[in-house]
Amino acid sequence: RKKVTLQRLAELRAQNTPITVLTAYDYPTAQRCERGGIDVCLVGDSLAQVCLGHNSTTTLTLDEMLHHSRAVSRGCKTPHLVADMPFGTYHVSIRDAIRNAVRIIQDGRAESVKLEGGMDVVPVVRALTGAGIPVMAHIGLLPQRAAALSGYRVQGRDAVGAFELLQAAKALEEAGAYAMVLEAIPEKLAKFITESVKVPTIGIGAGPGCSGQVLVWDDALGNWTGHKAKFVRRFAELGEAAEAGIQAYAEAVRGRQFPATEHTYEMHDGEWEKFVS
Ligand code: KIV
Ligand code: NA
Repeated sequence: RKKVTLQRLAELRAQNTPITVLTAYDYPTAQRCERGGIDVCLVGDSLAQVCLGHNSTTTLTLDEMLHHSRAVSRGCKTPHLVADMPFGTYHVSIRDAIRNAVRIIQDGRAESVKLEGGMDVVPVVRALTGAGIPVMAHIGLLPQRAAALSGYRVQGRDAVGAFELLQAAKALEEAGAYAMVLEAIPEKLAKFITESVKVPTIGIGAGPGCSGQVLVWDDALGNWTGHKAKFVRRFAELGEAAEAGIQAYAEAVRGRQFPATEHTYEMHDGEWEKFVS
């Protein structure tokens, strides 16, 4: 397969072929995405929760993101690789945002960055794309603002909120974003926004009218034991399989059924006799 470029993503949107995006936080997961034919691997800052055990994405540091993004890059050859800009890395100033995005490209080996926000981040998106760093925008439910908004809530359910999201989508496109995530917004609104911009929209909890879909790996594959959002479908039960496997391993060790003969090594012919004599 050929490397998925931004041009390819635009083509997929133009052909009305849904774009497949999945998060990845490490090398084996990236390899699975590669073999599974995923179009875009996202090193999401959901990494903080599903992989590192934090209770918010806001505690993730840039260094932690770089460490994981580098690992994903080693296994992700064909999919486009985008990494989230962690909370606080694009809020201080535009200069600081550019410096941090450059680190995500150079040290994190990502090909583009994703950042959360509407009108408020338009100048940052313009500056980054102006510096040649492709940006995926992210509007609707913004997990980095869960504390400020008192929880994880569906966005754009009223006309005013819907209008703000539409205006933000248009402004982010105009600022140069090559795609945008639409998270937890009504299906009708997501479809309307998708028809109102030319760049691909990537939905999560935004219905089938988007140009593509994204899910968190651990949600999609059943490796997450916490809250399951309404928009998640389990496509596999890796967590159950892992727990069953761990139990079987522990039982086999305790029952002395493992290791068996086929798992053990022998000395070269005659060497044991020499050794004990
Ligand atoms: O961090 C993440 O995993 C994300 C996706 C859910 C869009 O931002
Ligand atoms: Na994220």
